[in-house]
Amino acid sequence: MPVVRGKDIEVLFNASTIASRNLELAKEIAQRDYKDLLVVSVLKGSFIFAADLIRAMHDAGISPEVEFIMISSYGSGTTSGEVKMLRDIDNDVTDRDVLLVDDILESGKTLRFIRDLMLSRGARSVRNVVLLDKRMRRTSDINADHVGFDCPDYFVVGYGMDVAHAFRELPFVGVVKGDAV
Ligand code: IMP
Ligand code: MG
Repeated sequence: MPVVRGKDIEVLFNASTIASRNLELAKEIAQRDYKDLLVVSVLKGSFIFAADLIRAMHDAGISPEVEFIMISSYGSGTTSGEVKMLRDIDNDVTDRDVLLVDDILESGKTLRFIRDLMLSRGARSVRNVVLLDKRMRRTSDINADHVGFDCPDYFVVGYGMDVAHAFRELPFVGVVKGDAV
């Protein structure tokens, strides 16, 4: 088990498993009939996933534009809170196909909020791709269009995801054993 910051981390999805899944996701996305695709990466958690996925999308023959939106829903704890936009995208989404990229779909509040916002601004379509889906936690009416992996009901870290700002740099997705921080 890797030890980081003095904690044992149990690996759930390793780097090569994630990399091959990203290629499959990109091929899945390439099947859709997108005309003017705008990828919107939901910061901070999705930054590594989005970076890898858009390069896999290039390999799959898709050339999207990329934007970033920053949402806070967790603060520094591990329980879901209110959704707040900390940074908006810069581009107009009118008549565009929007693909939201997030690390985890849990309650669904975050993606529901952003989807409704993009639709209210006149986006032609709004779909999402998430690395991990915690279906058992869903409270909002939204589903993932593309899912990397179904996620067990653990608080996970790594590959962009943090607990109290730590562990984003891990090249794998894992669970911190013992007290997380
Ligand atoms: P939702 O709004 O409840 O769907 O929450 C989704 C957001 O919460 C994701 O974008 C993540 O940033 C964060 N999140 C949910 N579960 C975890 C986890 O296990 N580890 C790290 N972040 C998480
Ligand atoms: Mg997030």
